[in-house]
Amino acid sequence: MSTPIRGFSKRSKQEKIDWLIQQYFNNDLAAKQTLENYWNSDDALQQLHDDFIENTVSNFYLPLGVAPNFTINGRDYTLPMAIEESSVVAAAAKAAKYWGDRGGFKTEVIGEEKIGQIHFIYTGDPLKLAEFITEIESQLRSDVANITHNMEKRGGGIQHIELRNKSSNIDNYYQLHLTFLTADSMGANFINSCLEELAKRLKYYIQASPIFAETEKDIEIVMSILSNYVPNCLAKASVRCPIEQLETEEGMSKHAFAEKFVRAVTIAKEEPYRAVTHNKGIMNGVDAVVIATGNDFRAVEAGVHAFAARSGQYRSLSNAFIDGDDFCFELSLPLAIGTVGGLTKLHPLVKWSMQLLGNPSAKELMQIICVAGLAQNFGALRSLVTSGIQKGHMKMHLLNILNQLNATSGQKEKATEYFKTTAVSHNAVTTFLQNNP
Ligand code: MEV
Repeated sequence: MSTPIRGFSKRSKQEKIDWLIQQYFNNDLAAKQTLENYWNSDDALQQLHDDFIENTVSNFYLPLGVAPNFTINGRDYTLPMAIEESSVVAAAAKAAKYWGDRGGFKTEVIGEEKIGQIHFIYTGDPLKLAEFITEIESQLRSDVANITHNMEKRGGGIQHIELRNKSSNIDNYYQLHLTFLTADSMGANFINSCLEELAKRLKYYIQASPIFAETEKDIEIVMSILSNYVPNCLAKASVRCPIEQLETEEGMSKHAFAEKFVRAVTIAKEEPYRAVTHNKGIMNGVDAVVIATGNDFRAVEAGVHAFAARSGQYRSLSNAFIDGDDFCFELSLPLAIGTVGGLTKLHPLVKWSMQLLGNPSAKELMQIICVAGLAQNFGALRSLVTSGIQKGHMKMHLLNILNQLNATSGQKEKATEYFKTTAVSHNAVTTFLQNNP
């Protein structure tokens, strides 16, 4: 057990590292060196990363890859993807090329609405409260005008303010449920600032109003916070082509492939165990672009999975069907993301990724991210219903195994050639290296 440390955050970076190395690494200087190996030699750049969070001791790398050849609404894109899983970028690039040859991806934004809530306890007359909220709504709006002013200039702001009586769920529990538009920003700070100010004002107005009895005035603001569930902040991506144009693998007929693909999606719609893995594959693409563009992947993940369960059962996020002679595949995702604010201008690689995408608006980025999810899902399902997932996955994983086994660059080259026609496994690679010293 280490001794608790007080005032850790106040210590210098060096002191923090020294303490860690002494407490957890038996003063092993190699452990210190590992941290230092990942420091940036540019002090200003390192300081920038140090300042992102508290107690930074090093940087944690993720590879930044790119997937070219995406055609989205007739425009070409190369997608930046930050992810550690070997096969994700390769699968995205393959699906991009596949659909690029078949008319590309079509996308649209169905809504951009964000949500925030003030959760409070009120023990008085519900009708009186409802009337009072209607009465003070315009006052509440003007009370936060200093916060909403700039956002309104950018086309955003508070849309609706609604009182929700939730006292049948929890005694005396009410919400002010607000909807917002936040233009090109994700909007978390904007929404939370509005909510906290509105909550203070709400309490003040109720306490100052003569219409409430003394017993009714004692409202308790429990919390004021945005919701990461944004079912009306929705992007949709789809692909479609004549079944005759589908290219399959392993000698499967085009119709059989289309039908098997649709069946695989149907299973994911009905069977939660499969749905979770199916959707995880979608999130491989989504998260990689969300992270590369400096967005909050935890918020996106939470919102997307809640959306997948909106019917009361967790289901596939994507949908596939045959329409006449066409194969159709589509995906709708709630995506609260931003292209201004947050890390977007701060992290040099985020800035770079945004530039790679042509500095998209938030609406455009929502569509790009949705496409990344659909492409990834297509790649996974295409493999699953034909050759199986391991063939492509292990091929991409080969380099990881070779690196784990400390293969030389000559061995890597030979192994890459050899395993083009041989199944990859940890054992097979070990044997190969033994036979090719
Ligand atoms: C692996 O990261 C993702 C897959 O499991 C997705 C799927 O099964 O659809 C291949």
